[in-house]
Amino acid sequence: MALIDNIPALLEEVKQLTASTASELEELRIKYLSKKGLIPQLMTEFRDVAPERKRELGVSINNLKTAAQERINTLREEIEANGTSTEEKPDLTRTAYPTPLGTRHPISIVRDEIIDIFARLGFCLADGPEVEDDWHVFGAMNFPDDHPARDMQDTFFIEAHPDVILRTHTSSVQSRVMEKQQPPIRVICPGRVYRNETISARAHCFFHQIEGLYVDEKVSFTDLKQVLLLFAQEMFGKETKIRLRPSYFPFTEPSAEMDISCNICGGKGCSFCKQTGWVEILGCGMVDPAVLDANGIDSSKYSGYAFGLGVERITNLKYQVKDLRLFSENDKRFLEEFTSA
Ligand code: PHE
Repeated sequence: MALIDNIPALLEEVKQLTASTASELEELRIKYLSKKGLIPQLMTEFRDVAPERKRELGVSINNLKTAAQERINTLREEIEANGTSTEEKPDLTRTAYPTPLGTRHPISIVRDEIIDIFARLGFCLADGPEVEDDWHVFGAMNFPDDHPARDMQDTFFIEAHPDVILRTHTSSVQSRVMEKQQPPIRVICPGRVYRNETISARAHCFFHQIEGLYVDEKVSFTDLKQVLLLFAQEMFGKETKIRLRPSYFPFTEPSAEMDISCNICGGKGCSFCKQTGWVEILGCGMVDPAVLDANGIDSSKYSGYAFGLGVERITNLKYQVKDLRLFSENDKRFLEEFTSA
């Protein structure tokens, strides 16, 4: 039977169409309305019908076409109103996707812990630029121009502008603070420093320090020692011992280096402490009066102490990282091993 004899049945069929997903609906559209669909086929058959039936059939075909379009539009609106179709609806019962969270860098974890300890002792944060000038890194810190101490630290500088350097220590921030502020001064300055070292497991061309500076009336070496002991015990445990060895820095007098009892072997001796039971963690001393004067602070009235500690060193002690290079390689497997408390 030709399609054209079937229009009333098709009309009924079209009015009853259902679809619950966009793809089902698309199938219906293709079946009825696409170029090769039933309705265009009817149009083709219509060309051959007897002239006396043309009028009546033409009207029915048009009605059928309109009915199909309307039904499909209605279904489309319903599907869109439901959001997605049933099969595309999200499954609200399945467990949530785990959201991958980043982790803090071990250096940041330890830096923040150190800052926290000194903050509890009343130290404020201060900072200064990593790209510095010769004055703040050396001049203001009592390094004479030809002082051999400048060779202690292999400085990165720009040949055309030898005055522009990458700071080799955070002691430059001492000067930045003192030139702006009169005592009492009680600051810690965390930051990155640069030295022209060959990169190896034990040395890198940049690392992190935290500088401490305390300037007030009648500040003594005892104050320094007590603050450092408290820091060491907060950081590494109450049983930790400290030892101060005489040392030399141009900006402190007297100067010392501080060791703590090795917290890896408990002071018995291990490969980390080279069997000595002690590990060096910082340099310190009483601020040289010449440094106070050079930075606008009256050394006849005020005295102070300063210290500078290496964050990588302390992180190694805490986490026993054997190779310094791991800190800057951005290997996620390494970084994901650390979680902040
Ligand atoms: N600036 C010194 C260094 O980088 C550390 C230090 C800071 C020593 C403050 C004494 C006082 O080695």
